[in-house]
Amino acid sequence: MKIRVELDGRDFIEVECEGEEPSRPGPIKNVSILGCAEFMDMMQKMRKAFGPDIAKWPLPQAEDHSSLLLKEMILRLRGEWVFPYGEDEVCHCRNISTHTIDQAVIAGAHTPEVVTRQTSASTACGTCRPEVQKIIDYRLGRKSA
Ligand code: FES
Repeated sequence: MKIRVELDGRDFIEVECEGEEPSRPGPIKNVSILGCAEFMDMMQKMRKAFGPDIAKWPLPQAEDHSSLLLKEMILRLRGEWVFPYGEDEVCHCRNISTHTIDQAVIAGAHTPEVVTRQTSASTACGTCRPEVQKIIDYRLGRKSA
């Protein structure tokens, strides 16, 4: 199976694994990485410090897009990625997809207000706002209220 994490049109990590179940990806067969200089530099430093098996790398603590993508990949390789919202669309009033919200968070929108400004989610009834907050909290490793 292949696991791909990305900031659309900018950076990605794609890992091919021997397993077929997302919860048990198994040993790594191949890794492809492409992106901005900051992203490539971080990946190179991590490989140098911790070896080629990304699943064994420590989880990055920083909140920049490179670290958020790497953190997702490490958790996916360990079978520990549990995204906090299961529907394709978060904001039904504005028809804003979960993917759009998540990409905004990866790119640096770390409060509901900024996500709203960038995506127009939560600009009508507002009932989607707690879900937006949950996605932000999960990505940044915070506990949701
Ligand atoms: S569901 Fe998002 S504003 Fe109503």
